[in-house]
Amino acid sequence: MRIAFSANNPWPFTNQANFTKPSSQCTTMTNKEILNRLYQVILPYKGKLIISMLTMVVFSALTSAQAWILKPVIDDIFVNKDSSVLALLPFAIILIFLFKAIAYYVYTFLLQFVGQSIIRDMRTRLFTHINTQPLSFFHEYPTGNLISRIISDVSQIQNAVSNALVSSLRDFFQMIFLLALVFYLNWKLAMFAFIILPIAIFPIVTLGRRFRKLSTRTQEETANVSDRLYENITGNRIVKAFCREDYEDKRFGFQIDRLFSVTIKDARLRSLQHPIMEFIGGLAIALIIWLGGKEVIAGSATPGTFFSFLGALIAAYEPVKALSKINPIIQRGLASANRVFTLMDIEPKITDKEGAISLPPFTRDIVFQDICFSYDNEDQVIHNLNLTVPRGEALAIVGSSGGGKTTLTNLIPRFLDIDSGSIAIDGKDIRDVTLASLRQQIAIVTQQTILFNDTVYNNIVYGDLEASAEDVRNAASAAFALDFVEKLPKGFDTIIGEGGARLSGGERQRISIARAILKNAPILILDEATSALDTESEREVQKALENLMKNKTTFVIAHRLSTIVNCDRIIVVKGGRIVEEGTHEELLARKGEYELLYNMQFK
Ligand SMILES: Nc1ncnc2c1ncn2[C@@H]1O[C@H](COP(=O)(O)OP(=O)(O)OP(=O)(O)O)[C@@H](O)[C@H]1O
Ligand SMILES: [Mg+2]
Repeated sequence: MRIAFSANNPWPFTNQANFTKPSSQCTTMTNKEILNRLYQVILPYKGKLIISMLTMVVFSALTSAQAWILKPVIDDIFVNKDSSVLALLPFAIILIFLFKAIAYYVYTFLLQFVGQSIIRDMRTRLFTHINTQPLSFFHEYPTGNLISRIISDVSQIQNAVSNALVSSLRDFFQMIFLLALVFYLNWKLAMFAFIILPIAIFPIVTLGRRFRKLSTRTQEETANVSDRLYENITGNRIVKAFCREDYEDKRFGFQIDRLFSVTIKDARLRSLQHPIMEFIGGLAIALIIWLGGKEVIAGSATPGTFFSFLGALIAAYEPVKALSKINPIIQRGLASANRVFTLMDIEPKITDKEGAISLPPFTRDIVFQDICFSYDNEDQVIHNLNLTVPRGEALAIVGSSGGGKTTLTNLIPRFLDIDSGSIAIDGKDIRDVTLASLRQQIAIVTQQTILFNDTVYNNIVYGDLEASAEDVRNAASAAFALDFVEKLPKGFDTIIGEGGARLSGGERQRISIARAILKNAPILILDEATSALDTESEREVQKALENLMKNKTTFVIAHRLSTIVNCDRIIVVKGGRIVEEGTHEELLARKGEYELLYNMQFK
């Protein structure tokens, strides 16, 4: 049966809105490259793997012994009725099963151990790797996609390594031992069985290629589903506000149907593979019974030899079948490994350069000289900008939306790197110093408050992990957060929810200000929230900011007059250029851009 399903138009609602298919971000590595990389990952666990493989060989040998023992059981006990053999054989069987059980335990446990270790190592490495990436990386890779790679793809790799790659060795050994037995018992019959073998291997090889392609697509679509989930869950308030539940349902449905469609294709192939293999096995058994039966009837073989032979052959077919099942798992693992290694190979664009020095404590000035910047080397966002900010100055950056204010401040801690020109702190180009020493001296309060789902205390102490409980309390107090924190059910130990969901907007801002106060860095970047607060919390936030800015060199992207008048100097940024600069009064007197802004925004 073919399920009528088209991935190109799986959803009849697409005429309402064009749900776009996200692009896949994957280069293709050769199998050899991937296996090489996997080998590196497995290397630390080589010892355990070798022990596991050795016990596997023992296990396989004992499986053959099991088949072989049928011969004395039938010939000596049932046909010849030899009671001395009857006294011995049950013990031999018990021993075989006992050692097989021990071998099984050792090799499966060690394999699991290695597999789980690989998962742990790869996830840790990916996490660290992602953390070294600059801001632009996160603009390019959607959150859900990254999560999917770290969770789902890494699991697929582990699955391939411990369940497939290594189990296939066990199956291989088993096959070798059993076939040796088969040849030992009756080589002529064994030759016939061998004629069948290539027929059995053929479907394994041909289906393998298809599995690989489908797996890559399955993992891509899984990542897309993960993206949709992430956005829908984090953006749920907007979904509700715009009554877009239906729209989101359809969009998710569209994505999940794409995943369904590739998964079904994969399932169809796999469902097909098993019966094909079974049928080929049946052919072999029929042929062997016919030929072997003739030999037993003619008296040239004992019934014991025949049953032992048949037992060994059937047992040998199990690993062949298992090898065919393993193939899709390996293909899936390889596809996932490709996605994971591609991600790991993305060199962080912003790193410490060789011989980078530690930036000494900030004393003099920050100088922007002729800086240009563009996202993705496309449209230039900052054009030949020059600016000198002496230590201790509070600089207000104002301008209409999209002018490049946030971009400009993101250049100082090197969240983004300039294309040309230079930014120097005390005469040292920020690209010549280590990122850690640079960022150590900068505290940031962002436009959207970013808090973690943790206690109030842990969110504040994030600013300085060495700070004492008293320092944290003082910081909260300076940020005008102490009052409301103490009123929370568990005070500083209250968990604030994802992104601080259990706090009001103003409270969230004050917690993030407390965090910056605790860091006590000489340079401060403040991207004032554009969302308006009520006058009461507005005033509290304002006072918190004043405390934060004390004795600091501050870049503040200001949206409020109260912030601007507290500053020493104002620059007006428009289209990536400084179009005006001066004090509030000077700029108003010029009757230019600033006056326009003032009349629109601040008045
Ligand atoms: N990740 C990005 N990729 C490409 N272009 C971007 C990216 N981020 C911002 N831009 C563009 O850069 C320009 C400056 O954006 P920026 O965020 O610096 O503006 P802003 O002055 O901070 O505006 P606002 O006052 O609204 O916060 C805008 O035209 C914007 O479209
Ligand atoms: Mg901005």
